[in-house]
Amino acid sequence: MREEILNTKNQAIAQITESKDTDDLENLRIQFLGRNGKIASFIKRLREVPSDEKKELGILINEAKNTILKTLASQKNQLKEYVREWFDPTIPGIKPAVGHIHLITEAIYEIASVFEKIGFVRVRYPEVEWDWFAFESLNMPKDHPARDEWETFFIDEPPHPQYGQMVLTPHTSSGQVREMKRVKLPPIRMVNIAKCYRRQSDASHYPMFHQFEGLVVNKDISIVHLKGTIDYFAKNYFGKNRKTRLRPYHFQFTEPSFEVDITCDICEGKGCKVCKEGWLELGGAGMVHPTVLRNGGINPKEYSGFAFGWGVERVLMMRSGLKIPDLRLLYSSDLRFLTQF
Ligand code: FA5
Repeated sequence: MREEILNTKNQAIAQITESKDTDDLENLRIQFLGRNGKIASFIKRLREVPSDEKKELGILINEAKNTILKTLASQKNQLKEYVREWFDPTIPGIKPAVGHIHLITEAIYEIASVFEKIGFVRVRYPEVEWDWFAFESLNMPKDHPARDEWETFFIDEPPHPQYGQMVLTPHTSSGQVREMKRVKLPPIRMVNIAKCYRRQSDASHYPMFHQFEGLVVNKDISIVHLKGTIDYFAKNYFGKNRKTRLRPYHFQFTEPSFEVDITCDICEGKGCKVCKEGWLELGGAGMVHPTVLRNGGINPKEYSGFAFGWGVERVLMMRSGLKIPDLRLLYSSDLRFLTQF
């Protein structure tokens, strides 16, 4: 039996150290140390051996059992190391899908950078505004019919004693008087890019949209400066062959006022199915009205200025050709649309 115990121990060590996984190990554990395993059978047989051999054999069985236990534990650790070795951190992993900033955010950065190159400072004014800054200071008293065109969202809050009703900012022009009050003394050269809200929704209008508003106030500012700035923007944002024109229009807060048109990119001003006559409408502009300057604390006899306010979504759609046929797509969060860009 002595020989048998030693052989079993050696056999166990050999088999355990060759095992390849934890299932193998478990089978060997059962085979050698389990309730009906080999060590258990030696213990059972001890009853039959003469009493003077019992002690020595008992010690041998115990020693074999402990050696098998130790070998099992050490092989378990070896197998763990083996698994770890298989993890190679130098192999490239599976890359998560990377998105990009939203088209509108991208357009805002680009528009800001075009204007910053000629000294405009980007400012931002509140999305919730007082009536006075949005309308009254811009020469549009409460009962003026021109206000209807702004289709404003009114906020159900008690009016401000000086500035009146609270509204969702309907256009970035509300930043004009705010900027005059902030700077106090010209020169002013701001580009205010912000969210605006109106009760409108169709293929080219959305209840929430973005405008960028340019305002320049200084001594001797004329329409020539306005036209030069518009041309500069058109060439730098739309492409160097684009031309602009000013068409007489009416806004309460500019005098004279204009609609700005830009040559169509498809026909380059010749006239086509998209633009009809070669021109596309960009947005409003004009020379700042003396009343607005006065409301901002600036003397209109000393200073003059120009302003323009255009839709970010609109210029982006115009530049995209026909890729963005409906403004609402920009806010649909549909990845099939957004990942095209
Ligand atoms: C204005 O808002 C004037 N404040 C512009 C201005 C500024 C004139 C400074 C003179 C001097 P208008 O309502 O036309 O003007 O809007 C200007 C542009 O905002 C439009 O041409 C259009 O591009 C964009 N816009 C207006 N409403 C919406 C809307 N609901 N959704 C998307 N874009 C809109």
